[in-house]
Amino acid sequence: MTDVKLVEVGPRDGLQNEATVLSASTRVELIERLANAGLRHIEAGSFVSPKWVPQMAGSADVLQALLPKKNMANVHLPVLTPNVQGYQLAREAGAREVAIFGAASETFSQKNINCSIAESLQRFEAIQALAHADNVALRGYVSCLVACPYEGDISPAQVIPVVRRLFELGCYEVSLGDTIGRGTPHSVRRVLRALLAEFPAEKLALHLHDTYGMAVANLMTGLELGIRTIDASVGGAGGCPYANGASGNVATEEVVYLLEREGLDTGVNLNALVDTGHWLYQQLGKPVVSRVNQALFGKQG
Ligand code: HMG
Ligand code: MG
Repeated sequence: MTDVKLVEVGPRDGLQNEATVLSASTRVELIERLANAGLRHIEAGSFVSPKWVPQMAGSADVLQALLPKKNMANVHLPVLTPNVQGYQLAREAGAREVAIFGAASETFSQKNINCSIAESLQRFEAIQALAHADNVALRGYVSCLVACPYEGDISPAQVIPVVRRLFELGCYEVSLGDTIGRGTPHSVRRVLRALLAEFPAEKLALHLHDTYGMAVANLMTGLELGIRTIDASVGGAGGCPYANGASGNVATEEVVYLLEREGLDTGVNLNALVDTGHWLYQQLGKPVVSRVNQALFGKQG
């Protein structure tokens, strides 16, 4: 057991907003490289409308290529499913773990998944019934943890009921998304304290975007409050097509560098991760975002 569980979201969140669309086979190679670097939870894609997010088309091919591979036997490969249609497609491709994704902001819910929060929870109920029968693990997301790109500040009172409902639906973990990176330690501490009064830290994950360079500070705040599951994206890739200004997730390189120096075991080989981030940005045809990657690439031992 590692001290911290990392959920690598690069192959999904990292790529869903990129101008360069990577083929399914390149995404398979990315996930294999990440697994070889020691990551054990890797979000493999999204079963959303390819008209809405063309970057995630071919997620079925990605899963089908990976699942039979021996080196994937001990790797969790969750995929995003917004509705029953997505769930069924994910299952046909062999998915054993899916993530439902809601929001604490009405406008963001409408823009992102084309329905209200209440409607989204009804859709998730239908997914839950199927997942329960299929013995498929369910992860939950709540976007707009502290702010919404359309509505501005979001209060803990808006976040808590959505998180509560996701747990009632049987999510084994809820990932809290600072979708546009607007959080600072003060606002992140405020909402986390409110959540931790009701839900155990072991069941909460932090999903931090780094738009304002605050993600590592917010991550430390979460760690101090006992959060031990962190979403991160190799190279610092990421963003949401329906959240203007949402730039990359906190880079996995930054998270591993920080945690290992804080004495927490991540199970990840930083040198191999740096190589993977560099390789990914070669595929994307631009310089890597991660500062740790920039500092370490070519200088690894
Ligand atoms: P809709 O248009 O309301 O759906 O979209 P619909 O049921 O009316 O169907 C319309 C068309 O979409 C039909 O096709 C359906 O077959 C198709 P047509 O007849 O027009 O050819 N369709 C689908 N196709 C494939 N897979 C499906 C699916 N569902 C319907 N699952 C929908 C609703 C949710 C599908 C749409 O709004 C959508 O795909 N949105 C994309 C949302 C998304 O991927 N956002 C980014 C991920 S969330 C995120 O990044 C935040 C996170 O990282 C946390 C954080 O940072 O805060 C998780
Ligand atoms: Mg995200």
